[in-house]
Amino acid sequence: PGALVSVRDLTPERARAILQLADKLETQDVFERAKRLRKRRVALLFYESSTRTRTSFELAAKSLGADTTLVSALSSSIEKGESLKDTGITLKALGAECIILRSPYSGAPYLLAKSTGLPVLNAGDGMHEHPSQALLDLRTMLRFLGIKAAKLSPTALKGVTVTICGDILHSRVARSNALLLPRLGAQVTFCGPTPLLPDLAADIGPGVSVERDFEAALRRSQIVMMLRIQAERLAGLKIDLDDYKQHYQANSERVAACAPKALIMHPGPIIRGLEITSEVADGPQSAIAEQVHHGLAIRMALLAQALDKSKQRTRA
Ligand code: CP
Repeated sequence: PGALVSVRDLTPERARAILQLADKLETQDVFERAKRLRKRRVALLFYESSTRTRTSFELAAKSLGADTTLVSALSSSIEKGESLKDTGITLKALGAECIILRSPYSGAPYLLAKSTGLPVLNAGDGMHEHPSQALLDLRTMLRFLGIKAAKLSPTALKGVTVTICGDILHSRVARSNALLLPRLGAQVTFCGPTPLLPDLAADIGPGVSVERDFEAALRRSQIVMMLRIQAERLAGLKIDLDDYKQHYQANSERVAACAPKALIMHPGPIIRGLEITSEVADGPQSAIAEQVHHGLAIRMALLAQALDKSKQRTRA
């Protein structure tokens, strides 16, 4: 209960409840807020590097009064070969009541939840999903569109087209957004070179289409999400970067010509000068820093849900 591994677990009602709780926690008196998870124990288990997700989950937990501990692969017994299951059992024995997991392996959060019985919050698993990112992206989009969390419904985003451009194939952010946004009425357009696009029929499903011409996609989009090429997952796949920039880079000229009013998003980390130029990343249409900011409130809400729903364990 309270776990979040995939956006497939999110009905529009649950997404709405999370967003409303995020609004409430964000504006709550800090001392009141810090009572909510006072002395509850949250473990952050990170097998992959992270700046935004790790820091915001940790700050979110601390803002709610929880005690946190960070276990990262390079400084733990994971380096000696300890399995995910045994690491989870160890954290539970130390009193962890919720585990936030980032893993290079798709599906790892399911295994951890099964072997510990604890609520697991997926902080990104391989090429599978990044559900808290999709929720913070949703909060950013709703603010841009002027839609209140209370109005979230299966048709709330009707008529909105979101283009996601770049390394779709390796992106858990693209998958989570493409699963969540059509359930709220949005159309998602994937754009990028053929080797970086997934087989949609076998994968994502309705409400998602492909447009290889980035400028055509930009012209019909209210929201554009740029993605980094995930060099660490390319596994020998060769991408001509000059050609990539020529066709798929978000630069000032292209954005001004094709999408002068669109919101420009990026989950980060950004590679300036490759998928996006500094002029666009730092420009007036960019929501990149705002996305990061929304991560804190969303992750407070996820932690509050996860721990409110799990009975407080008696500790020595
Ligand atoms: N967006 C995101 O997941 O960033 P980090 O890898 O820095 O957490």
